[in-house]
Amino acid sequence: MQLQPFRPHTIIEPFRIRSVEPIRFLTDGEREAALAAAGYNPFSMRAEDVLIDLLTDSGTGAMSSAQWAGMIVSDESYAGARSFYRFEAAVQDITGFKHVIPTHQGRAAENILFSSIAHPGDVVPSNTHFDTTRAHVENARAEARDLVIAEGRQPRAIHPFKGNMDLAALEATIREAGRTRIPVVMLTVTNNSGGGQPVSMANIRAVSEMAHANGIPFMIDACRFAENAWFIKTREAGYADKTPIQIAREMFGYADGCTMSAKKDGMANIGGFLAVNDDDLAARCRSLEILTEGFPTYGGMAGYDMEAIARGLYEALDEGYLCYRVRSIAYLGEKLTAGGVPIVQPTGGHAIYIDAREMVPHIPALQYPAWSVNNALYLLGGVRGVEIGTVMFGRQPDGTEVPAALDLVRLAFPRRVYTQSHVDYVAEVILAANAQRDRLPGYRIVWQAPVLRHFTARLEPVG
Ligand code: F0G
Repeated sequence: MQLQPFRPHTIIEPFRIRSVEPIRFLTDGEREAALAAAGYNPFSMRAEDVLIDLLTDSGTGAMSSAQWAGMIVSDESYAGARSFYRFEAAVQDITGFKHVIPTHQGRAAENILFSSIAHPGDVVPSNTHFDTTRAHVENARAEARDLVIAEGRQPRAIHPFKGNMDLAALEATIREAGRTRIPVVMLTVTNNSGGGQPVSMANIRAVSEMAHANGIPFMIDACRFAENAWFIKTREAGYADKTPIQIAREMFGYADGCTMSAKKDGMANIGGFLAVNDDDLAARCRSLEILTEGFPTYGGMAGYDMEAIARGLYEALDEGYLCYRVRSIAYLGEKLTAGGVPIVQPTGGHAIYIDAREMVPHIPALQYPAWSVNNALYLLGGVRGVEIGTVMFGRQPDGTEVPAALDLVRLAFPRRVYTQSHVDYVAEVILAANAQRDRLPGYRIVWQAPVLRHFTARLEPVG
């Protein structure tokens, strides 16, 4: 008997689990007490009081046996360690950039870059700056300007590449600010703060051409470059037959450098890098690196961290892995949409974003609707996400407060950590919160730090 070939519809986790970490259920009362003790700020809670932790996909992934094996054979020499050269070779192979400057995480690369190139009064355009990127630009007393396309600001607008830069707005910014006041044009791939939305190759190419035509360097915030490559492969004409690594190489090929948090698509628990082609800039950045991070062949990382990243960068580009990862996010998105929960559409690469302003319209933006929804998910089911909204972005450099462009709850999935039943449980918690959304309170801030306030603020429910 000849059997028909089997083509499964189920996309399984492409790994088996050999080491496990217990998670624990608290009672309703214990969760209430834990959140109140944390000043109603999930950042201030103990992780062991969280059942399913979707606070971030940053540094929270599970490493492979190959990564752990590499860590054992690392070289911890201060200068010129073998592990550095392995790390450098992987970064150069994938990005093509000449100078690789290791850092302890992504924001350290941003600090070195913007301290080296940005001046007071400068303008740094991006599709959307992530909060640390914005903070580093502003720390240099420059302006971080977000120029994402209009669809990228509309949570339910369907567009395959909602992370794209608005080219007309970029052109207008270059004309208005003048090329000498723009030290770099950035693109964040995928666009985290805008909903984890990808940027198309056509847009990357066009932004690169416009920047270069004006003599301005173009750099990529590459944290989720592999997920972006997967969306280009599956959504952009002409890329279906290319491998993710070929697509990644083309993306980086249009740029003069990148900042990278290896805690995302580096598949590592810590680490990052700045990579640039310009010799002069690299020399200046390395001087600053020695001052703030460490010698240029370790820059804030252990040799074993560099070994983990050298392998992780390739594992992030594996087609089976990317297919499973993007599918697991879409799967949760479909369950929520079917249940009437407003989310950013289409679903992105690393997270689901609940549109809290739409879900709880009775809570004014300055009472932080997304903060409230996020806290409800913890109170009901021990799920921790993060507010990407007015607490994170609402405070202006002059101390005033305005509503952020969007009030979202981000549920970011650690890489290779949770299974489908965990995702089913999360869907159940969110649907339960949605069923009693009218009862969710607004919040007010009772204490805040002057910058990046969302990490440490203390809040209380209103009324
Ligand atoms: N750029 C983007 C787009 C990011 O998402 C992050 C971090 C960084 C830069 C900074 O990298 O944390 O290694 O210093 N995002 C994490 C998150 C924190 O939860 O999205 P880092």
